[in-house]
Amino acid sequence: MATEPLTQNPGVDGSELIRFDHVTKRFGDNTLLDNLDFTVASGKHVPLIGPSGSGKTTILRLLMTLLKPEEGTIMVDGDYLTHEEKNGKLVPAGEKHTREVRKKIGMVFQ
Ligand SMILES: Nc1ncnc2c1ncn2[C@@H]1O[C@H](COP(=O)(O)OP(=O)(O)OP(=O)(O)O)[C@@H](O)[C@H]1O
Ligand SMILES: [Mg+2]
Repeated sequence: MATEPLTQNPGVDGSELIRFDHVTKRFGDNTLLDNLDFTVASGKHVPLIGPSGSGKTTILRLLMTLLKPEEGTIMVDGDYLTHEEKNGKLVPAGEKHTREVRKKIGMVFQ
């Protein structure tokens, strides 16, 4: 039986699923996430490890669009989560855009 090579299987081809670019999240004077950059490749399992209060759940809440970053951009599966392109310009995402991109994301609370 002929099978596709693994590299052509979406999800394990190393393509980028999540991208945080210079993401800053503040609560008042508390800068919880300071210029955070990271990417997660499609098909990967990534543990977030850090002390209590270090911002792990905040990262997930940003991904769920429950919070908005003060600075930076977040992309999911090639789409901006935090922004949208209008007339060739990157502007903060509107409700409709946020709803659409959010369909790609799920979260299970512990
Ligand atoms: N809505 C909010 N308003 C003000 N401060 C907040 C808010 N949400 C989170 N914080 C602050 O951000 C800090 C980090 O919260 P977060 O829940 O992301 O940490 P965590 O790494 O998930 O911690 P834990 O391991 O205890 O779950 C908290 O200690 C709190 O001070
Ligand atoms: Mg937490």
